[in-house]
Amino acid sequence: MIHSARKALSLLGTPGGRHQIKLGAVRRLREKLLYPVARLTGGTNIFPPTIIAIEPTNRCNLKCEFCARIFWDEEENPEDDIPVELFEKIIPMLESSPKVILQIFGEPLLSKTFFKMLERVKKYNCQVVFNTNGVLLKRKNCEKLVEMGADEIAVSIDGTDTFKEIRGIPVSKLVQNITTLNEVKAEHGVTKPEIGIAMVGMRKNVHETVELVDIAASLGVENMYVAHMEAHADHLVDELLFNHVDYARNHFEIAKARAKEVGVNLVLPPLESTEYFCSFPFDSMWINWDGAVRPCCRAVYADTIQIGNLYEQDWKEIWNGDDMKQLRKSLLTGKEMIPFCEECSYRVLCKDYLVRILPRGHSEEPEEAVVETETALQTETPVLGA
Ligand SMILES: C[S@@+](CC[C@H](N)C(=O)[O-])C[C@H]1O[C@@H](n2cnc3c(N)ncnc32)[C@H](O)[C@@H]1O
Ligand code: SF4
Ligand code: SF4
Repeated sequence: MIHSARKALSLLGTPGGRHQIKLGAVRRLREKLLYPVARLTGGTNIFPPTIIAIEPTNRCNLKCEFCARIFWDEEENPEDDIPVELFEKIIPMLESSPKVILQIFGEPLLSKTFFKMLERVKKYNCQVVFNTNGVLLKRKNCEKLVEMGADEIAVSIDGTDTFKEIRGIPVSKLVQNITTLNEVKAEHGVTKPEIGIAMVGMRKNVHETVELVDIAASLGVENMYVAHMEAHADHLVDELLFNHVDYARNHFEIAKARAKEVGVNLVLPPLESTEYFCSFPFDSMWINWDGAVRPCCRAVYADTIQIGNLYEQDWKEIWNGDDMKQLRKSLLTGKEMIPFCEECSYRVLCKDYLVRILPRGHSEEPEEAVVETETALQTETPVLGA
């Protein structure tokens, strides 16, 4: 008690401390009131978002074989960096948002505005996290990340030998870059940014989970997260771990045992269908480089869900606009859910909902081949039904 009072008094003495106290009080109130009020008011959220995700760019320097960028409609998803004037419109939200994710699609470190944004966001005492493909984690960038105070980064590494096939670069390059970041942290005597490894699990790489745990341990990486792949192309559907559950489970068990031995916190995804409550639209706002505002990390490109645009509306109008309220209401009641949410793997993790084939992900079949298949099926049907 005395300790908490002393801590509060010392925090009161600095602007950063006062900001922290204010955020703490809002957080406690939010925990009590958020859902009851949203239920009573048809989806209104009286609290601001606690997480703002900003897309520094949706351009990229890689072409990973499972990424939506490879298969989305190019005309509907033009690629560019966020302009500074759009970032200025986001600034007022930072006062009340404790966490900022500086990445959505694309490679954040490729953006011309990334470090300007990081520097500015950190002035608001926000926790800054992002995923990166790690290619640009060279000394100069590592120094900026450390000096500007980035809090946490997850480097995407999806295997060891298969990594080159999946991402087009050798894993050794990323090991070298993470080593550089570790050296820069040591030179500055800091522990941030904390480094994690993010792996997308597929049939072809799941046997390498254990080797990746060893790599994580050798790099002093504490957290390694494995996620299911979302299949955006026909040819990737067979790569889903849900199509190879026993095989995946076996390799997860081996990796889990090793992680325990070497002290890596390995976070594995379930291999059985699992239901979740989706809290994204209650907590976060996702802002693309072109000002489009979206409710979650799954609906972040064209033809998903858009709830507004920051060039046309103020963020408060969007946050409690009709679309956002309806979205929250549908998640709370399970009624009138839009199809995109209905079939979302973040709400119901299962094989079917991990498949979302994008326009360029359909296997190209010449028309004649389709006719031939139909003819073949027609002749086969009576045999099957006999
Ligand atoms: C879209 S990327 C953007 C950041 C950065 N370019 C990177 O690769 O880390 C964010 C995360 O999504 C993951 N990801 C990309 N495509 C995916 C898919 N089809 N299914 C599941 N995760 C995917 C990436 O591996 C990465 O960890
Ligand atoms: S590096 Fe990230 S954004 Fe770029 S293609 Fe790969 S997964 Fe997609
Ligand atoms: S259910 Fe899925 S698509 Fe709908 S808001 Fe939640 S994460 Fe987004």
